Amino acid sequence: MRIQKYIASCGVTSRRKAEELILQGRVKLNGEVVNTLGVKIDPGNDKVYVDDKLITPPKRNYYIMLNKPKGYVTTVKDQFDRPTVLDLVGDINARLHPVGRLDYDTSGLIFLTNDGEFTYRVTHPKNKIKKVYIAKISGIISKEDIEKLKRGIVIDGYKTSPAKVEVLKIGKNTSEVKITIHEGKNRQVRKMFESLSYNVLSLKRIAIGNVTLGNLPEGKWRHLSDREKNSFLH
Ligand code: URA
Repeated sequence: MRIQKYIASCGVTSRRKAEELILQGRVKLNGEVVNTLGVKIDPGNDKVYVDDKLITPPKRNYYIMLNKPKGYVTTVKDQFDRPTVLDLVGDINARLHPVGRLDYDTSGLIFLTNDGEFTYRVTHPKNKIKKVYIAKISGIISKEDIEKLKRGIVIDGYKTSPAKVEVLKIGKNTSEVKITIHEGKNRQVRKMFESLSYNVLSLKRIAIGNVTLGNLPEGKWRHLSDREKNSFLH
């Protein structure tokens, strides 16, 4: 970001006045005077001073939904240096974190925010926020197995809560199943199918609470509307 834009975004003054401050030698970047226009800074790391006073952007909360592609981790930093979902939300001047997680191989809806309260509301099990997934699995799913998934099954010594299950499509030797759960145990949906001997060929989350992915393209993000955001905060 250009330094004059950053100064303006911190609410110090307008962009034009910021340029004047720079030309007057009143702006420092990491301790060095900047007196030319157009210097670029990294808002997350650089320190900018006006008249020797550190300036910072006003605190603002961000609520973003992303359509995560496969092949991204949902941690802030990955020990194997794999791409993270934060790589997909470029120019946002805030420390965002993913809300909950999706597996590396799972695609679909994930929120990012810098509001810890929002994260708490969405992820705390007591709030029972429903999450809807579409799983493509190997084999033709049987009526008995659908009933088992609905009733809850034991994975890792833990019985899952009742799920909503709807078969969307039966292929030659595959099934597409919509499953709604409100828990978030590690790899839960995959394990539920695997415990019934179905391989999960692909998994996509399409909704969290009343917020649906809609037609947001894979790899793209947008801000949540106030209504979407408030559906978790109120
Ligand atoms: N269940 C899974 O198995 N994986 C996910 O990413 C989310 C839910």
